[in-house]
Amino acid sequence: MAERIRVMVPEEDINEKVKELGARISKDYEGKELHMICVLKGGVFFMCELAKRITIPVTMDFMSVSSYGSETKSSGVVKIVKDLDEPLVGKEVLVVEDIVDSGRTLSYLLEMLKDRGPKSVRLCTLLDKPDRRVKDVHVDYTGFEIPDEFVVGFGLDYDQRYRNLPYIGVVEQD
Ligand code: IMP
Ligand code: MG
Repeated sequence: MAERIRVMVPEEDINEKVKELGARISKDYEGKELHMICVLKGGVFFMCELAKRITIPVTMDFMSVSSYGSETKSSGVVKIVKDLDEPLVGKEVLVVEDIVDSGRTLSYLLEMLKDRGPKSVRLCTLLDKPDRRVKDVHVDYTGFEIPDEFVVGFGLDYDQRYRNLPYIGVVEQD
């Protein structure tokens, strides 16, 4: 069976939104320094594009997490596969994610990061699927709210593929 990608959010719309978010974030943190944290691998395209649109001083760090247990029995506890290089004490932290789905990963991760003594922690996500939420997560900056469909592109993968698409799409079988 051949796979086809149906475009959900075109490239131009993403670029426009990233500019908009960058401007908003720059204004909200005016006079401060921002420490951006990317959750690998999905968040990397969004984080790089967003960082380029932020006009205040920015530092960046990366972490990689995976869920414990099987997908069907997700406990919401995440394992740190790659931890941050820098401490968070006294920093204005912005976590940058590709998508908030059930919210399990983010709610656990945000609590863990808050325990490291940052001045503030906010969350910015490119995509949000509010219909799928199981754990309450406060999202400070959202790119697009999307329906409950499995999407790929702009960092998001299906079996590690399609991350490099410059738009958000849905995989369809012919
Ligand atoms: P959560 O803990 O359920 O919110 O899961 C978040 C993670 O699941 C995201 O960071 C993605 O890596 C992955 N994920 C959730 N929905 C999608 C999707 O539609 N496409 C690709 N990955 C997804
Ligand atoms: Mg992710």
